[in-house]
Amino acid sequence: MAAKRILLIIGGGIAAYKSIELVRLLRKSGHVVRCVLTRTGEQFVTPLTLAALSENKVYTNLFDLKDEVEMGHIQLSREADLVVVAPATADLLAKMAAGIADDLATTLLLATDKPVLAAPAMNVRMWLHPATRRNVATLRGDGITVMAPDEGEMACGEYGPGRLPEPQAIKEAIDTALKKPSPLQGRGLGEGATATDSPSPNPSPEGEGDFSGQPDFAPANHRPLFGRRILITAGPTHEPIDPVRYIANRSSGKQGFAIAAAAAEAGAEVLLIAGPVPLPTPPGVIRVDVETAREMAAEVEAGLPVDAAIMVAAVADWRAADTAAQKIKKDGSGAVPPLALAENPDILAGLAKSARRPPLLIGFAAETNDVLAHAGAKLARKGCDWIVANDVSADPMGGETNRVHIVSKAGVDSWDRLPKGAVARKLMEKIADELDARLPASDD
Ligand code: C5P
Repeated sequence: MAAKRILLIIGGGIAAYKSIELVRLLRKSGHVVRCVLTRTGEQFVTPLTLAALSENKVYTNLFDLKDEVEMGHIQLSREADLVVVAPATADLLAKMAAGIADDLATTLLLATDKPVLAAPAMNVRMWLHPATRRNVATLRGDGITVMAPDEGEMACGEYGPGRLPEPQAIKEAIDTALKKPSPLQGRGLGEGATATDSPSPNPSPEGEGDFSGQPDFAPANHRPLFGRRILITAGPTHEPIDPVRYIANRSSGKQGFAIAAAAAEAGAEVLLIAGPVPLPTPPGVIRVDVETAREMAAEVEAGLPVDAAIMVAAVADWRAADTAAQKIKKDGSGAVPPLALAENPDILAGLAKSARRPPLLIGFAAETNDVLAHAGAKLARKGCDWIVANDVSADPMGGETNRVHIVSKAGVDSWDRLPKGAVARKLMEKIADELDARLPASDD
């Protein structure tokens, strides 16, 4: 690959030392590297080390007036072919998502019209926090490539996703990003932008993605859902009446969790939004736990954009209009306390109408009678693409098998009774075919 200009922004964090090796690898490939250190980054690596390795000036302070004359921050951000943020701390990602520009690094990131690649590093809880999930989703929606952090033991002693990817992996992601056109073109920002250009619906190159730790069943890019982002809701919701009582639908969450597991096995980046169920998180799946329908609706919104959403959750249709702050007591008189209900948002129907409707939207319907007729009516009412209808008359909720019918405008596809895992895998095959037909994956 021809030599390119990389602007490397180094955030604060124990992983910042790995940026030294990254600079070395990039220089070895002939790239020109300019480093920018955040104020906290300076606590972990010195400008002198980076200057020696990059053979270039290192920038640390927005208010260096001499540099403003020599090379303004706008020019610094635009002369690069690619802007790389490594390590991208939770704080840097949050500022990038919010468009905050309060130091040199964040000002460059807001001013640039070049592609941006972020390699996150943070504590596992910070990575899994809904705020970071929202920020990463926002950045991806803006066309920024956010790599998945590595999984493993962290400097703080905890275990999970959050480690900075190895310098070699970041270098490979950089090579991939350099081959792509700028995702900011088409927003009127890049050179040669046209009104019809649009960011790739699926900007993640190989080895990247929101949701880390995909199980290693086959080379990632050979899996049928590689590069696809899939959101799944599962389990019931609990709608509190008072601190000890709630309204809920019966749901074990097993089918939704099996679908999340199968989607990750098939190579997708999977966000599972789960109501209260005591099930383990399938490998390679990012799980966000919620309690109520309104919390679930907010997390679904925060998880967008996705290529497909599969709404398996048994969401409670109603919640208590008022939640008592203390346990409602029996007073011995036999009088029954009134329970006023309020309607919950229909998450599936809302998503179908939203501007960010996933290209493939799938609902579930548990029916006890006239399964196909009810499913057909639900398909129209909810505005989704498929309804996966299951007959629950013979099988109590929480069983291990399912007999489903996939109802769509194209007709009905009825499957034999199968274990829930097999239903999930068959569904993934069907989804992969549908997405390939609707959203052909890019060649690289
Ligand atoms: O209306 P019903 O509950 O039968 O619809 C089932 C489908 O709609 C499921 O896919 C379920 O996850 C979804 N749903 C929803 N929000 C609700 C109710 C149902 O997303 N409030």
